[in-house]
Amino acid sequence: MTTLAIQAYRLHLPNTARPVLAGVDLTVEARETVALVGESGSGKSLTSRSALGLLPTGAGTEGTVRVNGDDVLTMTGDQLRALRTGTAAMIFQDPRAAINPLRRLGDFLTEGLNGRLAAGAATERAAEMLDAVGLPASVLGRYPGQLSGGMLQRVMIAGALMGDPALILADEPTTALDVSSQAEVVALLDDLQERFGTALLFVTHDLGLAAAISDRVYVMYAGRIVETGPAEALFNRPRHPYTAALLASTPRPDAPGGRLAAIEGRPPSLREALTGCPFAPRCPLATFLCTQQEPALLAVEAESARRAACHHSDRTGANDG
Ligand SMILES: Nc1ncnc2c1ncn2[C@@H]1O[C@H](COP(=O)(O)OP(=O)(O)OP(=O)(O)O)[C@@H](O)[C@H]1O
Ligand SMILES: [Mg+2]
Repeated sequence: MTTLAIQAYRLHLPNTARPVLAGVDLTVEARETVALVGESGSGKSLTSRSALGLLPTGAGTEGTVRVNGDDVLTMTGDQLRALRTGTAAMIFQDPRAAINPLRRLGDFLTEGLNGRLAAGAATERAAEMLDAVGLPASVLGRYPGQLSGGMLQRVMIAGALMGDPALILADEPTTALDVSSQAEVVALLDDLQERFGTALLFVTHDLGLAAAISDRVYVMYAGRIVETGPAEALFNRPRHPYTAALLASTPRPDAPGGRLAAIEGRPPSLREALTGCPFAPRCPLATFLCTQQEPALLAVEAESARRAACHHSDRTGANDG
């Protein structure tokens, strides 16, 4: 069974001229690691939070968001609670903002299991999960302020594993950390994902990180998936000009000190309605057609799972930069 299946998903917010998510299709299979990449404001967090039924106030939705086959958008309070403490778990960007500073970490780790396990068994599981993320059981008695950011993010990962989830959503889990803790946390997630057999949706604006950790990648722009495919194929030859532009703006490890090309222009605001391709105003390949008709997300190579939403995907060149 597909662990996360988002289909024709639209999300509307009050006082906006267009849906903030406009027909998102995205799947994560059991045990698969999938990256969701895109610039700030593209809708990555709204998409991943939707998998836990965490919607902004006043949001209206169409389509389906299924976790292990159950539609999250129609769940009741009890079902949502079971989802968030069992089937799916989220690792947030900033562990200091996400963990109550006034409570011992042992309480943070065991709270989701209250009523499901006896207190002793819950504490024992918390110690096991701390061990899995490379931390000693003594952390149970500590307060968040006594740990470094990297250690605290490990505690959050341990917390995500407590309910034995089928799906972990990691929303920019390393951006608040220093570079060496970032690498450690990514390696740890990679290792745990294999060991515990969870599916992982990894949200990032960093294509290098996406390439390092994921099997498949979805590229998001203005609330749409504009390209998807196996990580390696997508990075070797992007078929959407936006993916190509993102790649060109990523510093390459094999070209130290290399230029960082910024993508000119900015994404459309939620205050403007859109006609045609949302990337057209910034796109070097845009033609009249692009300003008139939004391209559908279509297969670009017969043999693989690659899709791109571009009228000119055949003209989007090899990434030789
Ligand atoms: N609760 C909310 N109320 C109103 N607008 C919101 C809310 N949450 C998000 N938005 C808007 O929806 C759009 C998408 O937001 P989202 O947080 O999903 O982007 P993102 O891709 O995660 O960006 P970032 O890389 O900065 O985290 C943005 O324009 C944002 O301002
Ligand atoms: Mg975000």
